[in-house]
Amino acid sequence: MKYYLIGYMYSGKSTFGPKLAAAKGLGFVDLDQAFEAKYHYEVARFFEVFGEEAFRKLEAQMLHATAAMDDVVISTGGGTPCHGDNMDFILAHGTAIYLQMPVDALVERALRSRHVRPRLHGLPEAEMRAAIAAELAEREPIYLRAPVILDGTDPQTGGIL
Ligand code: S3P
Repeated sequence: MKYYLIGYMYSGKSTFGPKLAAAKGLGFVDLDQAFEAKYHYEVARFFEVFGEEAFRKLEAQMLHATAAMDDVVISTGGGTPCHGDNMDFILAHGTAIYLQMPVDALVERALRSRHVRPRLHGLPEAEMRAAIAAELAEREPIYLRAPVILDGTDPQTGGIL
């Protein structure tokens, strides 16, 4: 059994993922953390130094390496399903779960977060909202290909599966 958790930045994948894994008796892998452990760079710093394209190439490799894993919940980065054939790969190799969250909740969480993310970090609220709304509108059709869609704002979400 393999679950891929997908959704926008700040939707709570890294919090919900370990809970789901524990509830199901599965392992847990966070793709961004695996990237940082392998390449010894924080993701945001890697973006600054090498650029997004280089990140997406390595991110796709990390994702493809999950083909060999089993009994695991894999939390992906917000952009992971939206590049190359990654969403097709995810759908072919496990059950995709989209943790959906409305723009207002994402903005509120982004403003409270101390975890630096590329592009959004340090933006004033109005610009942050506009950037999140625009990017989510672009990405959501891809996220919505997931067969399971959960409400990320519902604290009971973990009880559903
Ligand atoms: C990104 C999301 C991040 C990380 C990278 C790019 C994105 O992951 O992969 O900073 O493009 O949405 P989280 O969704 O875990 O923050």
